Amino acid sequence: MCGISGIVSQQAISGDLFESIRNLEYRGYDSCGVAIVNRHGLVVRKDIGTVEEVNRRVPLTEIEGSVGIAHTRWATHGAVTQANAHPHTSCAADFAVVHNGIIGNYRYLREELVSEGHEFRSSTDTEVIVHLIEKYHRSMGSLERAFVKALGRLEGSYAVAMVSLHEPDRIYCARFESPLLIGTRADATYLGSDVNAFLGFTRSVIALEDGQYAILLPGQVCVKDIATRQMQAKTVLDVDWNVESAQKGGHPHFMIKEIHEQPQTVIQAGEVDTAAIDGLADMMARHRRTYLVGVGTTFYVAQMAQYYFSSLARTFIPVISSDEFRSLAQVDADTLVIAISQSGETYDTLDAIRFAKERGARTAAVCNTMGASLTRLVDHAIIQGSGPEICVVSTKAALGQIVVLLRVAAALGRLSGATDRAETVMRDLRALPDAIQQLLDERTGDIAALAKRHCHIRHWLFLGRGIYYPVALESALKMKEVTYLHAEGMPAGFLKHGTLSLIDEGFFTVILAPSKEEGALYTATMGNAEEVKARGGYLIGSLADENGELFDEQIRLPKAPPLLAPLLHLVALQLFAYFTAVALQRNVDRPRSLAKSVTVG
Ligand code: AGP
Repeated sequence: MCGISGIVSQQAISGDLFESIRNLEYRGYDSCGVAIVNRHGLVVRKDIGTVEEVNRRVPLTEIEGSVGIAHTRWATHGAVTQANAHPHTSCAADFAVVHNGIIGNYRYLREELVSEGHEFRSSTDTEVIVHLIEKYHRSMGSLERAFVKALGRLEGSYAVAMVSLHEPDRIYCARFESPLLIGTRADATYLGSDVNAFLGFTRSVIALEDGQYAILLPGQVCVKDIATRQMQAKTVLDVDWNVESAQKGGHPHFMIKEIHEQPQTVIQAGEVDTAAIDGLADMMARHRRTYLVGVGTTFYVAQMAQYYFSSLARTFIPVISSDEFRSLAQVDADTLVIAISQSGETYDTLDAIRFAKERGARTAAVCNTMGASLTRLVDHAIIQGSGPEICVVSTKAALGQIVVLLRVAAALGRLSGATDRAETVMRDLRALPDAIQQLLDERTGDIAALAKRHCHIRHWLFLGRGIYYPVALESALKMKEVTYLHAEGMPAGFLKHGTLSLIDEGFFTVILAPSKEEGALYTATMGNAEEVKARGGYLIGSLADENGELFDEQIRLPKAPPLLAPLLHLVALQLFAYFTAVALQRNVDRPRSLAKSVTVG
């Protein structure tokens, strides 16, 4: 969702503020803007387009001043227009506000403010915030009290930042169910929806909690509780990401860079503290019921992990999409809920965890982002250590999560006596980085050529059995997200129960085939491939064993043990989606209508 940034310094900030929202652009990119306080007043520049485009039209980098806020938008309320871009200003242009989240009662508030004479310029929910602050400042005099009073009127979720001519040396900010981080340094203070906003300036981070607000001055941060206005203790975290890891490093897109980082991702997930892995397995063993939750890619990650738990720990773990958790889950004090999330800020996943906590359940998370809301909400957080993932579509973070959960499944298996299986898979896992590297080195060219040849095909089917089924689902999602083509994933055995009627020469099918050593799973999958072939469908096999008779074309993979081979298919089909998108000249890192972390419900 939208990206918020802010800087309070003793030096000119417009260049750094520009860099900051450029680094946040993957959170939303339909429009952007900045508000900087200087000796001439409050300078607001905003427009539709990317940060670069807007800067060319209305220079953002040439504004005098050392205190400012900025925003890059992903529209929820109100179309993509210059007027709806943030920051929004008060009637007297003495306050400017940026916001992320959704104000549920904005229509009511807007009517109230309009009836009192406030003039609105946008159709956003955000604009009510700045008029409320203006209203209360007029009646109360104190800016801090007006800010807090305005927050008290809001229903919904918000991360909000404000600058004002009345106290031009500071930023006020607050959060409720929407992320906001503060970066600290001796001579300046930074604000961001995530650390990428200020990774180039500092790695010391204070994570604002729900219900807190903060006042930022150069090198000073004061955190208070919104309800009581009492000072709150601050914990400063050191984030171990670096600026280079959030840059493209010579690759044309973040997506391909992140795909190529995956041998390292597996190593990093393998290095996650064993005590944290065993701790989670132990929690699972002590609870009557465990749920895995995630949404989008992380739902599919949870489904892949489900197969690992079945196979290694002989335990069936229900998986629920985070957005359906409230409707389906049976939660009590003897329940453990494990959430999976790259960002740790996804509204639906946080909501599932909140629901679980309200019912007395214990909670845990596998997350890529240190200090994220999710990690602070749960009883046990495992930070997967995959480094920043900038491309909107998830690749390496998903793989890191799968490896972490594979380790948890092996640990749970050990607790239930399946020591040999656990040890075998852990030994095999050591060879996975090399197998992925081999795939990347030897197959990227073929996969790129295949993608280029077939990029005109509008309909894609991805089929797999067993653990290859969720890999097929994830592969179809990758294809949809980044190419805008129609793609469906499904269990291969499901095909003849309806979907087979779609198959014709315009509908291409990718079969994720296990190796011959998997016996029945292999045979059954090949049977499904035959069904497609018999209806004149074009068949692409993703497979380790040569089978030129059945398949029209093949993506040949290195051999790997049964539980790890599906991960090679995952990587190969990430490449396939990527190169198809490149051939179609799509906006690979920022596909239309998508945002990196979906912080609204
Ligand atoms: C992944 O490619 C998608 N962009 C999306 O499905 C994502 O996985 C989902 O929104 C969950 O995000 P999270 O991992 O940050 O919680």
